[in-house]
Amino acid sequence: MTKRMLIKNGTIFTASDTFSADILAEDGKICRLGPGIEPSAGDTVIDAAGLEIYPGGIDAHTHFALPFMGAVSPDDFETGTVAAACGGTTAIVDFVIPGKGQKLAAAVAAWHEKAMGKAAVDYGFHMALPEVNAEVLADIPGVVAEGISSFKCFMAYKGALMIDDDQLLQVLGAAKENSALVSVHAENGDMLTHLMKRFAGEGKTGPEYHALAHPAEAEGEAAHRAIVLAGFAGAPLHIVHLSCDEALREVQAARVRGQLVLAETCPQYLLLSDELYKKNGFEAAKWVMSPPLRHVLNQDKLWNGLRDGFLQSVATDHCSFNFKGQKEMGKGDFLRIPNGIPGVGDRVNLLYTYGVRSGRLSRNQFAAAIATNAAKIFGMYPGKGTVAVGSDADLVIFNPARAGEVSVKNSRHNVDYSAFEGFKLDGLPAFVISRGQVVAEYGKFTGKKGHGRYLKRKKFDVREWGF
Ligand code: URP
Ligand code: ZN
Ligand code: ZN
Repeated sequence: MTKRMLIKNGTIFTASDTFSADILAEDGKICRLGPGIEPSAGDTVIDAAGLEIYPGGIDAHTHFALPFMGAVSPDDFETGTVAAACGGTTAIVDFVIPGKGQKLAAAVAAWHEKAMGKAAVDYGFHMALPEVNAEVLADIPGVVAEGISSFKCFMAYKGALMIDDDQLLQVLGAAKENSALVSVHAENGDMLTHLMKRFAGEGKTGPEYHALAHPAEAEGEAAHRAIVLAGFAGAPLHIVHLSCDEALREVQAARVRGQLVLAETCPQYLLLSDELYKKNGFEAAKWVMSPPLRHVLNQDKLWNGLRDGFLQSVATDHCSFNFKGQKEMGKGDFLRIPNGIPGVGDRVNLLYTYGVRSGRLSRNQFAAAIATNAAKIFGMYPGKGTVAVGSDADLVIFNPARAGEVSVKNSRHNVDYSAFEGFKLDGLPAFVISRGQVVAEYGKFTGKKGHGRYLKRKKFDVREWGF
């Protein structure tokens, strides 16, 4: 039987337009947009008078159930996507990270296993390449054919995930040949290792030394190097979790030169600062992540970068670990604190309050940052990332008049703290809709585990970016 949903009286904000229209969805897709659409018997009807309708959020950077640094991140594809849904996100893209010597296809199969039957919203995969050799390069076309058209290369985590410049060049060449996109974790791994060793040798073991061992200069240098290598290879480049002005300036300079360099930042870099490492004793381990939180002066630069289009999207890099028992493994040795923070359920709300309501972003820029640009970068547009006839009925409908607060008490993340505890929210998602089904209502999950489908993503299209 055809399932229909009618959303009446709302104002719709896409990345490019603002308009009033009713939305009719049939079998999960938007089939009509316009004034005065009347319901038929059996339709689910939502009155969106006074509410703001946006494309459902896309978080293109998550790590669910990831074995990392001696721990497994507790948010899996069920709890992670339920939290996503409750927080306005209707699609995520998680990183497949192959183990040592593991075939890429086997790693993809393992990730499908983790997600299948569990995800509450749609999901895709990126492929991380912690090892690069002839066999891995030969497997790239097969991975792209499976709908994984983006590859993450680590310039940090020396001795674990890091690859060298020769290998990065090989990946850039192979990705270009296959119309895939290379994303980089841009930090100079040698510089970080040098600093980690130095601090360890001086008996400096607290979590604040994690930040000092990951200076902004190391990120700026790696961003510069990745951009030069991508330019030399004639390949597009995407920089993940960009945290500081040093790296942003490199992106800006590349774009001004006419090079196709795209970048994402995260709510933590827009809203939190390295002051958290100075005043919390070992509790600062809650915010140990790579790159680390930066000096507060970076925040305005990143907001401006987002507003001006040098940063296209905001993702979370959700990689949650419990403080008790997991972060605590690094008591007395910051090198053993698993890196990462929770955030998949907070991203859209934080961006709405601290971006839109504080006047830093227009509502159209907000739509672009939470959804549209990620959809375009990662081959999901226009099926996702917009509100248009033929697109999936993935929507987040905000009530600007409802207030809230981020807290571990109301969080759906499966961890024992919130990275954004106490942040006030000015406006909340009233309804979150995934393919025409209400999956969350005012933070309450109303969807179904297993509703989420795998997203076979298209190849990277340089024309989307005017190249
Ligand atoms: O600290 C972080 N970012 N953990 C997740 C792994 C990564 O580098 O994205
Ligand atoms: Zn990374
Ligand atoms: Zn990450």
